[in-house]
Amino acid sequence: MDITKIPRHVAIIMDGNGRWAKSQGKPRIEGHYQGVASVRTAIQVALDTNIKYLTIYAFSKENWGRPKDEVDGLMELFCKTIALEIPNLYEQGVCVRFLGSRKELNPEVLESIALSERETQNNNRLFLNVALNYSGRAELTEAVKQIVADTEKGLVKLSEIDENTVSSHLYTHGIPDPDLLIRTSGEYRISNFLLWQSAYSEFYFTEKYWPDFTKEEFLKALEHYSTRKRRYGLTDEQK
Ligand code: FPP
Repeated sequence: MDITKIPRHVAIIMDGNGRWAKSQGKPRIEGHYQGVASVRTAIQVALDTNIKYLTIYAFSKENWGRPKDEVDGLMELFCKTIALEIPNLYEQGVCVRFLGSRKELNPEVLESIALSERETQNNNRLFLNVALNYSGRAELTEAVKQIVADTEKGLVKLSEIDENTVSSHLYTHGIPDPDLLIRTSGEYRISNFLLWQSAYSEFYFTEKYWPDFTKEEFLKALEHYSTRKRRYGLTDEQK
């Protein structure tokens, strides 16, 4: 693989936990537990290949509509996993940050988020962003509201508003846009994930369910990425 073409930022829609569980004759939550093992693997691959930013879609705003026992099970899984993984993430130089609205989250989840962000804030080997209670449209709506409020207060002039103004009001402020966006499980949708940030991302889709997304599968995605020509709207000759 051409290591000069390792993406700086990889974002992943981790899909297919439920179908994986069903295929094994297990309850859906087992698929999510197995999904955590794939998250660990993905972090390890990111560390080994010098990917600097890894963003994973753990829970969307729309996911609150799932059956209560699945939502409760996922919240418990997040708390348990975060608590268990903090020492390891800290040791490996991973800086954790959560993207999404904090409003609807329960106190236990909020506490684990705050703890993991606090404990790892000075790390800089890998930036791990966990999208939790995230929605791209809600993120943009919030940004619009804040910018309008700043304009009304006279903090910013209408003529000064540009793309950087918008970017700086998103959960991802300070994080470069994803170079590669992976979705597992054979679905070909963006599902409200990083709508603004993925404007020029390369997309990679695989049929594998997230629990089956192994190190080899991740390396295959990186291999594909290394063959892509990114033109950003220009011609081949211009790039
Ligand atoms: C999508 O599969 C997966 C989720 C909604 C949850 C993903 C969460 C994890 C893998 C745990 C990560 C843990 C931490 C702490 C970050 P699905 O349930 O939509 O699968 P289906 O489409 O087959 O039903």
